[in-house]
Amino acid sequence: MYYWDKVDEAQRFIEKRSGGVPIKAAVVLGSGLGRVSDEIEKTEVIKYEDIPYWPRSTAPGHEGKLIIGTLRGVPVAAMQGRVHYYEGYSMAEVTFPVRVLGQLGIKAFVATNASGAVNLDIKPGSMVAIKDHINFMGANPLTGVNNDKWGERFPDMTKAYDHEFLDILDKVAEKEGIAVRRGVYMAFSGPSFETPSEVRVARMLGADVVGMSTVPEVIAANHMGIRVLGISCAANYGAGITMQRLTHREVLEAMAKAGDDLSRLVRGFIGEVKL
Ligand code: HPA
Repeated sequence: MYYWDKVDEAQRFIEKRSGGVPIKAAVVLGSGLGRVSDEIEKTEVIKYEDIPYWPRSTAPGHEGKLIIGTLRGVPVAAMQGRVHYYEGYSMAEVTFPVRVLGQLGIKAFVATNASGAVNLDIKPGSMVAIKDHINFMGANPLTGVNNDKWGERFPDMTKAYDHEFLDILDKVAEKEGIAVRRGVYMAFSGPSFETPSEVRVARMLGADVVGMSTVPEVIAANHMGIRVLGISCAANYGAGITMQRLTHREVLEAMAKAGDDLSRLVRGFIGEVKL
């Protein structure tokens, strides 16, 4: 079966399970951030393994459930857990959920993730509103035949992270008393953490944080004309900044602490945004 037909089938499955409620926004909850979906009401919970062709998360801290319901009265879908390129999935598989959600009609895609800070002004545990990215993964999800139904061959990425969304997030952050600064996210393929030299390169190239996700989904969302908000939680300093070794456990611990701030930001944003 062709990829596009698989996307259609997954879309039909979710429509049936959710009673055909039009979903306005999707939120992807990164490492250790699954709790954000506790706030969603009137939920239908669908396991990834039940959705035809939907890729399964294998990374620890990624639960693998699609939660459909309302957040602040807005019909949303929350992905508890995502899949990554480093899990061995192709770029097409990594962006499969975005394609399905796009066909379900979402107008906004909110991506959250954990990252390492390469800008010394960003302290571990703090929030970064992603204002732009550097795709350093060595692959692009739009490689291959273009699906003209989704978008054009050469999509513009000048405002890949919607500027109005960034302004709304600023206001929400101020109201909630959460410090959020804007920064550039640079995506490495992983799964090894960066070396200290790679972290230095990232800094020289203009990155503020580094991570292993989000960029493929954001490219696919832009391709479909879906507006994007990206919030990154800097879980740790990038390798070599302190000479401490990096562990995934440390990342998950930092994310558990940040979950509450992130949840308030996402909730506030969904409450404020006009879609
Ligand atoms: N590098 C890449 N991805 C990450 C990091 C990091 O230091 N921390 C959390 N995710």
